[in-house]
Amino acid sequence: MSYTIALNFEDGVSRFIQCNENEKVLDAAYRQKINLPMDCSDGVCGTCKCRCETGNFDLGDDYLEDALSEQEREKGLVLTCQMIPESDCVIAVPVSSAMCKTGNETFRTELISVEHLSASAIELRLRLQDHPGIAFLSGQYVNIQLPGSDITRAYSFSSLPGAEELSFLIRNVPDGLMSTWLSRRAKPGDNLTLTGPQGSFYLREVVRPVLMLAGGTGLAPFLSMLRTMMRTGVHYPIHLVYGVTLDTDRVKLDELDMLVEQIPQFSYRVCVADTHSTAERKGYVTQHIDDAMLNGGDVDVYLCGPPPMVEAVMRYFSEKTITPQNFHYEKFTPQAIREAS
Ligand code: FES
Repeated sequence: MSYTIALNFEDGVSRFIQCNENEKVLDAAYRQKINLPMDCSDGVCGTCKCRCETGNFDLGDDYLEDALSEQEREKGLVLTCQMIPESDCVIAVPVSSAMCKTGNETFRTELISVEHLSASAIELRLRLQDHPGIAFLSGQYVNIQLPGSDITRAYSFSSLPGAEELSFLIRNVPDGLMSTWLSRRAKPGDNLTLTGPQGSFYLREVVRPVLMLAGGTGLAPFLSMLRTMMRTGVHYPIHLVYGVTLDTDRVKLDELDMLVEQIPQFSYRVCVADTHSTAERKGYVTQHIDDAMLNGGDVDVYLCGPPPMVEAVMRYFSEKTITPQNFHYEKFTPQAIREAS
């Protein structure tokens, strides 16, 4: 019996290690060549203090209060030199990956297909070479290297963690380097190199209702999260409000319908910003959030979209004077636009 432990470093890099039964996290990390911060390795100094974000574990009581106080323990802090996992865990490490003598992993892949789902969205499917699957947390991204260059672009997985086949929903940016390569030159069999996974936008344990807000191709990480929920099951309502600019920008509705069938607690709605839209729901995401979805604030909100959408949602919560229990968000800015600004 072993558990998978995700180590999320301060610089956004994630590494995954296996921890054997009764093995301490610090020992497991060293065995797998990741030098987590430590000094005494005996529960005395507090140097190995990290935050356990999800998962069950035993810390024992064989450490000093000076190393980890009761209040710190209640806030989720742990000593990795004492921590014995009793389930898969996610641990935030308060230093960079380089300080722990590790970094991003590199993966070689082969292109399966490029499909223009709409004028604004491209689906890229890749197959891993020499590797059974990439461990990541649903919602995270990888950097994809533009073939023949050193340029990389960050894209969220829409596929399930660990799958041999990877998928991404990519915004088709006019004159964007990756968009242009995908549209004009990419062909099945091409090799692409990925580095990662990365990011702090990922699905936490579902312990209350969840509200997902997606803008355009910001739908990608939610597809991965929902596929994970389909596999693990959930016991709380999960609502998705998916906003796009034009009617033709709506993509992956078949898949969302399938997820509604497979996850009884899941429902979604789509809204279109274009005033000439023929869609049932017109306007922005914030105009289509029902009070019931907010559950009086006892809700975990996940938001992925362009910066104006993220700012609009923040304004919305502030005007409503509602503070969600947890609010996780990811802003994406196409590189072509970022470079121009
Ligand atoms: Fe000193 Fe863990 S390394 S308390």
